[in-house]
Amino acid sequence: MENNTQIYKGVALTHGRTEQMIDTIIEKRAILSNTELCKLVGLESFRNLVPIYRMLNKIQRVETKVEIIKKPKKVKVIIETYKGVALTHGRTEQMIDTIIEKRSVITPIELAELGGLKSFRNLVPILGQLNKIQRVASKTNKPEVKNTNKKKVPTVSMAKNTYTNYYGKGKDKARDLIAQSIMSTKRQSSNILTLPADTWIMEKNIMKQKQGYKYTAVERDKETYKKMITNLIKDDNLFDSVIATANKTISEVIENDKPDTYSSAILDYCGFVDSFYNEINNVLTNNLVKKGGFITLTLAENDRVINHPLQMDNYSNTYIRNCYSDENVSGAKVTNDLINNLVFNNVGYRIVSKFNYKDTKVKMMLFIIERIN
Ligand SMILES: C[S@@+](CC[C@H](N)C(=O)[O-])C[C@H]1O[C@@H](n2cnc3c(N)ncnc32)[C@H](O)[C@@H]1O
Repeated sequence: MENNTQIYKGVALTHGRTEQMIDTIIEKRAILSNTELCKLVGLESFRNLVPIYRMLNKIQRVETKVEIIKKPKKVKVIIETYKGVALTHGRTEQMIDTIIEKRSVITPIELAELGGLKSFRNLVPILGQLNKIQRVASKTNKPEVKNTNKKKVPTVSMAKNTYTNYYGKGKDKARDLIAQSIMSTKRQSSNILTLPADTWIMEKNIMKQKQGYKYTAVERDKETYKKMITNLIKDDNLFDSVIATANKTISEVIENDKPDTYSSAILDYCGFVDSFYNEINNVLTNNLVKKGGFITLTLAENDRVINHPLQMDNYSNTYIRNCYSDENVSGAKVTNDLINNLVFNNVGYRIVSKFNYKDTKVKMMLFIIERIN
């Protein structure tokens, strides 16, 4: 083909071919027979049509290819997520719920086992994604900072009751120690802030030994609260000993309480200290328990290491970070020191008793604090 040969729609305009002829061929090729098409455009024979077709087909193939390259088919990969976690690698909604529910009360290794993960390593990206969602949520929900004089009471986020160790030698001994301290206080005009869960074991134990103590019973988990009320109604003696119940967190209940509202507080949390640090501090700082009363704290021994994905940027993390780097900062030491610190910072209190126990895999610590001033 000569260099100055005219091309129209990819077809060389040689051998008497015209633009109109090419247009007609393109337009009619699908509806006319080759012989009819030759007649229509004035070609002598079908042989003359073949090179035109070849050139048209070639152009069409190139155009289709260009089309494919220009517009690659979008393959949408839809990754299902649940509570911010991608449901890939065999993760299920139930698994994510279990992890959210138990992450603050059991160790990562136990958590991995419970969630049905092969290894603790598989837990790390899930916790990373959950922490990210939590960070974003807490940023979004941050209230506007207003300059009011009202003291802000940080609330403990609503969570399920994950407590299962109702029975165990250690737990019974801890209950005994709590009961002993409570029974050394006056029954008259008593009002003990307590977390009875659904079973009221602690309160019933005290009642069996010494009648007449009164309680304000708090439970943040709705289902546990409902069972707690059902069991309360069934027991007349218990019913008479309860001043108030609330399906709230302790923080929410004490928000507007005045000093000396309670005769004692049985804060049988059984979770990690970080979650309750501010709440405990509020009870102490605001002197919510009368002089001579007790604040008992049951906590799970903190076993976190620094920068662990389970660990939010909070008290234990800060504590460990600030420790001398060569020091062996065990979980027990972190919990113990943080409680010592709380008591040290709040004048008028002293720790009168400590008890460590372990009925399940989780190590527990009981602190009994007395308000002395
Ligand atoms: C360890 S259980 C109480 C056990 C009970 N005292 C006994 O002797 O068997 C703790 C209960 O308090 C609830 N709870 C934990 N932290 C709370 C908080 N900050 N405010 C309100 N309820 C809380 C949990 O949902 C759980 O039902």
